[in-house]
Amino acid sequence: MKKTPVAVLVSGNGSNLQALIDACIAPDYPVKIVLVISNKEDAYGLKRAAEAGIAIQVIRHKDFPDREAFDAALHAAIVAGGAELVCLAGFMRILTAGFVGKWEGKMINIHPSLLPSFKGMHTHAEALATGVKIHGCTVHFVVPEMDSGPIVIQAAVPVLPDDTEASLAARVLKAEHQIYPYALRLLASGKLTLKNGRVNKQFQAVQEYILFNPDVRF
Ligand code: GAR
Repeated sequence: MKKTPVAVLVSGNGSNLQALIDACIAPDYPVKIVLVISNKEDAYGLKRAAEAGIAIQVIRHKDFPDREAFDAALHAAIVAGGAELVCLAGFMRILTAGFVGKWEGKMINIHPSLLPSFKGMHTHAEALATGVKIHGCTVHFVVPEMDSGPIVIQAAVPVLPDDTEASLAARVLKAEHQIYPYALRLLASGKLTLKNGRVNKQFQAVQEYILFNPDVRF
């Protein structure tokens, strides 16, 4: 089967990257991660990639005069690595419209909230502060506006009475690890496309909005 070459961009721990790496072990998973890029040389995600035998590259944003120059280096590295799709997995840089435009319909992100609620950082603290009872995570196509863009799939996660930011984050992260590999599988196999700014679904077996159950496997 054709394995679509994918680049994954990380800034930190890389547990979502790990979920993607693990998914790629399955012979019928239509993805090969060809490159992991980090803007931080100490990102643990780089270690995960290296351990999995994936090429890694550090492109430090601090080494560039502006966002355009950093994004141009990112783009060049992704193209040189042979990737056709890009996954942002805890990549904590705002990307320029020029870069995003080059990967329109080919770049997805995972965000730890049910968008459009709680964009930006501190999503779990905000969920607790506002008192929502259902929180979750979202995979979306990347557009120039941060944490926006057509929604591919969401998982809803309960907020429990004694939750702390850490306990809630851990529960949401588990759901992230379920839906991100699933969304990438759809994208890589051509069952998920972006047409005229809207998500085009050629999949019906699973609802886009999933009430998280740790036992569910996609
Ligand atoms: C994840 O919770 C991801 O959703 C979030 O950063 C974390 C990275 O964890 N991303 C964002 O907040 C992007 N707006 P990981 O490095 O263990 O995958």
